[in-house]
Amino acid sequence: MSITDTLKKTSFDRNDIIRLLVSTDTQEIELIRKEAEDVLLTQCGSEVFYRGLIEFSNVCTCDCLYCGIRKSNTGVKRYTLSGNEMVSAAVWCAEQGYGSVVLQSGERRDAHFVELVESVVKEIKSQTVSQVLPHGLGITLCCGEQSSEVYKRWFSAGAHRYLLRIESSAPELFSTIHPPSQRLESRIECLRSLKEIGFQVGTGVMIGLPGQSVEHLADDILFFRDLDVDMIGMGPYIVHSDTPMKSHLHYYNEKKEWVFQKSLLMIAATRLVLRDVNIAATTALQTMKHDGREQGLRFGANVIMPQLTPQEVRENYLLYEGKPCLDESAEQCRFCLQNRVQSVDRVVGFNKWGDSKHWTRRNLRTEP
Ligand code: 5AD
Repeated sequence: MSITDTLKKTSFDRNDIIRLLVSTDTQEIELIRKEAEDVLLTQCGSEVFYRGLIEFSNVCTCDCLYCGIRKSNTGVKRYTLSGNEMVSAAVWCAEQGYGSVVLQSGERRDAHFVELVESVVKEIKSQTVSQVLPHGLGITLCCGEQSSEVYKRWFSAGAHRYLLRIESSAPELFSTIHPPSQRLESRIECLRSLKEIGFQVGTGVMIGLPGQSVEHLADDILFFRDLDVDMIGMGPYIVHSDTPMKSHLHYYNEKKEWVFQKSLLMIAATRLVLRDVNIAATTALQTMKHDGREQGLRFGANVIMPQLTPQEVRENYLLYEGKPCLDESAEQCRFCLQNRVQSVDRVVGFNKWGDSKHWTRRNLRTEP
């Protein structure tokens, strides 16, 4: 089928999604991009929303085979920010007009950690209420798999979005990149539980994993659709040399161009299939190309996560190598990003939560 015929469809099946993802012809890719951008602009508008990113701890109890901060990597200097450090980064974020913050960390389930997150969420909420943000900053958590009791506590404290990537929805791929103790089923359970509690839920995958095909990627998009998620964060898999997957470095270097192109096509195809969800232009995209995030925005993304992690610890939060912006202050990051957004003819949605339209429509709510 010609790409023009596929793009005319109002609903896409697995073969249609594969058809989008296999495109390599520049003109075809431009047609897909343009359609994804049109859907974004009609469904969500031209605003790009910021989520100030605070990577508050790299202490992790997991041993994901791809991840630079896995527990077995003894070369990592471990840190956990204090509650005060986290709250002041969030207050700065609110003062800049970024309507939301993301608190991200390694995965831990001990009581001390659960309490730290709970108390910081409450404190951020109480300290960021203002005329422009009558309900304080929007708070997204990205702290891995937890019990539903813990998720409920964090939701009651005031967090309203949660990111938990599935990494790959294909059981055979999931099990090759995780130790046996980590199970695809329990991650899916967590995603269901988060939705039931009332969180806006985000998930996503890594693109370019060894053994991953376009069929796998098409199935990932169907997984997002069937789970009816509100937000998507996806990016290229980037090899970290202190992980068991370092042996793929050679493969990775050879496939770089392919992976970057598939990452952009995944954003566009996800936009075409899911239509009104929020999609992030992730930092990992920028690791591959200097304008990777702008490209992500052009292919249908509408969220960007400016760095707020204090500079002294940022270099210890290396999930993958070559992470950009390590030496930029939060202040520099702010101007740099605004220029990047404007360069693709979009505007920053300052002082708004920028909730997923999919979620507001699903719940017939308007933003406070
Ligand atoms: N390359 C790209 N993304 C990675 N992540 C972890 N390690 C890597 C890597 N080596 C992503 C995972 C995780 C998110 C926080 O970072 O998808 O969910």
